[in-house]
Amino acid sequence: MSTDAKYPPGPRGLPVIGNTIDLSRDIFAFFEELRDEYGRVASYEVFGTDACMIAHPEAIQRILLDDHEAFEKGEVLTRNLADAMGEGLFVTGGDQWQNQRTQVQPAFYRERLNTYVPEMRSTAEETVEQWRDGMVVDVNDTMTATTMDVLGRTLFGVDVTENPVVSEASDAILAKFDTNRFWSFLPGRLPTPTNRRYRRKLDELQQFVDELAQQRRKREYDNRGDDLLSILVGFVESSDLTREEFRDNIITFLFAGHETTALGLTYTLLCLAQHPDEQAALREEVNTVCDGDLTAEDLPKLEQTENAISEAMRLYPPVYMFFRETARDVELQGYTIPEGTTLVLPQWTVHRDPALWDDPETFRPERFAAENRQEYAYFPFGGGPRHCIGMRFARMEMKTILAAILSEYSFELVSDPNPKLITSTNLRPAEPIEIELHEC
Ligand code: HEM
Repeated sequence: MSTDAKYPPGPRGLPVIGNTIDLSRDIFAFFEELRDEYGRVASYEVFGTDACMIAHPEAIQRILLDDHEAFEKGEVLTRNLADAMGEGLFVTGGDQWQNQRTQVQPAFYRERLNTYVPEMRSTAEETVEQWRDGMVVDVNDTMTATTMDVLGRTLFGVDVTENPVVSEASDAILAKFDTNRFWSFLPGRLPTPTNRRYRRKLDELQQFVDELAQQRRKREYDNRGDDLLSILVGFVESSDLTREEFRDNIITFLFAGHETTALGLTYTLLCLAQHPDEQAALREEVNTVCDGDLTAEDLPKLEQTENAISEAMRLYPPVYMFFRETARDVELQGYTIPEGTTLVLPQWTVHRDPALWDDPETFRPERFAAENRQEYAYFPFGGGPRHCIGMRFARMEMKTILAAILSEYSFELVSDPNPKLITSTNLRPAEPIEIELHEC
């Protein structure tokens, strides 16, 4: 490919290992260098496989929206996730995906999600009730536990804090899907410790979901509650969603919706802890809008809070890059990219591109109040028909939890303002992010 003049330019790495060494050391620096040296559509090699970085908003829009049929999720992703969620929304393609998305979508309509807000709020309040003036809190740990609790209550209708099956399986799936492993192209069937643990935890989780579904099916229709599990059980009964599709989707929501939301909150708290003025403005907004009694109707009014979350996810996108594979030869920004090429869409790089953002390294939530943003310069939830189905759920949850915290405590950062990050499955802090609480 590298000899084709119209193929995107890029460094030609060492044989066999390609640029893999650079990539695993610091993937963001690598993409930035690639952009600065070769442009926003540039190529590189991983283990002799051609890949292209796509960091140009117009090209991203073409891939996710305008010509989305020409780009698939890709063979490596499909193979890696086949056991856990091969029949679910995240992995399937074509008609099967379309059919599922249409059926599952109503479970994510605003009216339906509004009914989860009281549960989100009481979970958040239970977390905050354990806090005390002067306490130092590990933000990521706390937010991970809280979002898992929310997901358990709203998705399964059960308290998962007592039952480690769900959180352990979630950790095992995330470890298995770790991007470093992705790059190494290790076949999943090798009996490595990660793979063995993954298989065991996945079996336990699948059994847990099957049992929950069975119990739910036995109940009378009006006695089932309105968690996602019941809604999906209803779809299995009333439509052609198979039981495997049902189970894989429950696991998909768990995998896709848990750590991501916890990280969104973690980075919002990291930013706010360093910006006391922003924090005070948000507290005032929360107190004015709901005065300690937040309802679903209040959420759209928390505009500054929403902007702060958006800005934190610009600087620290929990999903910092994702992949597509070309289903045919395509033309992007004047280059020809052949069928079967892996494309990487790096949110981190695009969200901090100085050509697209003023003062890109600075936390400035008010930039989200202005309307003049270029499409696809910001895509923390992906875009086009395959955009995150849980986006509204996640935003509602993050706002509800933040409001609960802000109305009780102010907080300051007592750990490193620039924490080291790990580019794992999602963008994780490599060291604790800690805040000290002050009762309001
Ligand atoms: C801050 C939190 C979240 C972030 C940053 C996030 C990010 C994303 C991104 C970037 C995609 C697109 C992936 C791609 O196109 O390859 C996606 C898809 C998806 N997300 Fe989320 N997500 C979040 C929360 C959630 C939640 C709470 C749920 C479910 C309860 C969820 C369920 C899904 C599903 C099922 C898909 C696949 C949709 C499809 O292909 O039709 N996500 N998410």
